[in-house]
Amino acid sequence: MTDAPAVRAPVDRTTQPWWRSAVFYQVYPRSFADSGGDGVGDLGGVRDKLGYLELLGVDALWICPVMRSPMADGGYDVADPRDIDPLFGGLVAMDELIAEAHFRHLKITMDLVPNHTSSEHPWFLAARDAGPGSPERARYYFRDGRGPDGAEPPNNWPSIFGGPAWTRVTEPDGTPGQWYLHIFAPEQPDLNWENPEVAADFEKTLRFWLDRGVDGFRIDVAHGMAKPEGLPDMAEVKSALLVNDDDDLRFNQPGVHEIHRRIRKVLDDYPEAITVGEVWVNDNVRFSEYVRPDELHLAFNFRLAETEFDADAIRDAIDNSLAAVGPVSATPTWTLSNHDIKREVTRYGDGAAGVARARAMLLLELGLPGSVFIYNGAELGLPNVDDLPDEVLQDPAWERSGHTERGRDGCRVPIPWEGAKPPFGFTTGQPWLPMPADWAGLTVETQLEELGSTLSLYRMAIELRRIRPEFAGDFIEWYGSPPGCLAFRRKGGLVCVLNASATPTQLPPGDVLLASAPLEGGQLPPNTAAWLV
Ligand code: GLC
Repeated sequence: MTDAPAVRAPVDRTTQPWWRSAVFYQVYPRSFADSGGDGVGDLGGVRDKLGYLELLGVDALWICPVMRSPMADGGYDVADPRDIDPLFGGLVAMDELIAEAHFRHLKITMDLVPNHTSSEHPWFLAARDAGPGSPERARYYFRDGRGPDGAEPPNNWPSIFGGPAWTRVTEPDGTPGQWYLHIFAPEQPDLNWENPEVAADFEKTLRFWLDRGVDGFRIDVAHGMAKPEGLPDMAEVKSALLVNDDDDLRFNQPGVHEIHRRIRKVLDDYPEAITVGEVWVNDNVRFSEYVRPDELHLAFNFRLAETEFDADAIRDAIDNSLAAVGPVSATPTWTLSNHDIKREVTRYGDGAAGVARARAMLLLELGLPGSVFIYNGAELGLPNVDDLPDEVLQDPAWERSGHTERGRDGCRVPIPWEGAKPPFGFTTGQPWLPMPADWAGLTVETQLEELGSTLSLYRMAIELRRIRPEFAGDFIEWYGSPPGCLAFRRKGGLVCVLNASATPTQLPPGDVLLASAPLEGGQLPPNTAAWLV
């Protein structure tokens, strides 16, 4: 163990479970901290930085996939779900991380990928070799092709990363053969969840990690897994990559809820552990179905992350996020970014305005009731890196789209820890993605020293949210506010005001607990939020 754990105000578990108001910190392990010098972050690196995460004040980590993988999609292509990839330090590194995190009262949640495996998973290798009609193929979606000689894909579904969602295999006898379904990359064949072996194996994986002490899971593509009977064509093939809407046949099929109920039954054997699902579903009623009491504990609501910096749009996103959980008494979740989404500083316009708005939005989300997910680097106000050279891009979307969609690497550039030039203490080697030289002013080392830094704002805001009674209550009440502004009140008494207009605005009565930028003559400047009590 390194330095001693800091004294932390206890979360009040007598009244509610820990995850109902937790601050989760998402670690993209490749990009967080490298303890091995190979230029790729690892679990030893995460462990080295636990003291920092404790200082930041978060309750739990969500670690993106670290299981054994050929890394065709940054680890979301899993070849062995019950082992840790040597790139990240192997099982020992995971056990050590769990132990030290718990010593520091930090929870660890892992990212599991039930919708698909890697094409290097032993099951898929066996399926490829076993031939049509075999039980091995029945764990996936193998189908004969259409058209003469079966040379056309079985249906018209596109892959999320571009191109068709089907790839043809060569049969063991060397002839062109069946096709297999992959909603994501060809290296990510979809599992057939109607096959009982698939569910049984996933249960084994859940218990494997829970028994090792993990506190829960982020469930990847939690609105996927179930497929419509007969795999019919989509009425209209949408060409947009990396997105889906509510009437997309590839997702959100009714059968998915039975799968979540089975997962929940396992989790209920471990009462402190939770699941949070990646649910890209817009309709509030259909979203709410995923967080019924016998399904997921939490589901990501992406509305805030998809909303521009506009008061009416933000109010609408909040109302909808609350409406999507209220009817089933589930917990709202808030997030501004993750490893799939352009960083908020850049979405809000980059430069000083982008940073100011991202800071204001942080106070807004931490002021709301529910759980908050912070993506690593957001606490440093990192922008997206949109000028990565073509030759370093690794997101499968880049190749699959024929170099028209650059993909998500721009939000995955490694974290700058210290020093004046790249790789800023991230690694002693060559970082897997180049880091901008002008991040010297954004390092953790620099920002820890500055009271006005984004990191200091995060620390203060998370701390206040933890200890102040004004944050109590599950609901918000909207306040009247001038055009371009919004204000809400929590039952405990906290008032959160945000100014998205172009002019300073008067604050309601009360004492300012924290503001995302200095007030101007007692007024709240544009692109700023404040908490009042
Ligand atoms: C999820 C992940 C994303 C990954 C995809 C396929 O959307 O967040 O990063 O590419 O699933 O597993």
